[in-house]
Amino acid sequence: MIIDRLLGEHRNIDLLLVALQRELEIFEHGIRPDYEVIRAIISYFEVYPEVYHHPQEDLIFSKLKTRDPDATAMVGDLAHEHQDVIDRLHRIARAIDGVLADREVLRQDVGNIVRDFIVRERHHMMWEERDFFPAARKALSARDWTEVASSLTDHGDPLFSETAEAASEALRAHILQLEQEAEAERSSLAFSSAVAGNPRHGAETDGP
Ligand SMILES: [Fe+2]
Ligand SMILES: [Fe+2]
Repeated sequence: MIIDRLLGEHRNIDLLLVALQRELEIFEHGIRPDYEVIRAIISYFEVYPEVYHHPQEDLIFSKLKTRDPDATAMVGDLAHEHQDVIDRLHRIARAIDGVLADREVLRQDVGNIVRDFIVRERHHMMWEERDFFPAARKALSARDWTEVASSLTDHGDPLFSETAEAASEALRAHILQLEQEAEAERSSLAFSSAVAGNPRHGAETDGP
């Protein structure tokens, strides 16, 4: 079922948002976050939801519009929502590039942009799960779902969706691995600085 796959993708996206949130907390504590992780998460969002996730939802939305116009009126404007996601992504990419290029950027502004992206992305998915998906499940016919599924493999390359899925999975696993390594490195640094900077520790070793 297509909706179940979309829900699975939402869970995967959320894992990346958790990693991004972790880096944001580090940044907001005045510590250098792992920019490789942040950049990779942005790249993920620039590619996969755009070529893969949003087109499926847009297609389902257009079917819902013909089946139940009242429901789409209630659900809202999906195309507009997806455009907002892209705009927020551009903003976050610009902000991070600005930091990395040592341009004059306010840390607080960067933090707010990243936070806004996380909050609104979560909100977007929640909204789809609460309003859009149930309305589509109710209104679309079996034939509609078959048409949606077949148009997804109509890119001229029948393996398109499988390839995209495998690549997105590989990139996601890579990002989460990087994040784990960054966390491990941070906690070992925190441990050694705690040991080095702890006067009681010194007193104990220097004592009689
Ligand atoms: Fe969406
Ligand atoms: Fe979605």
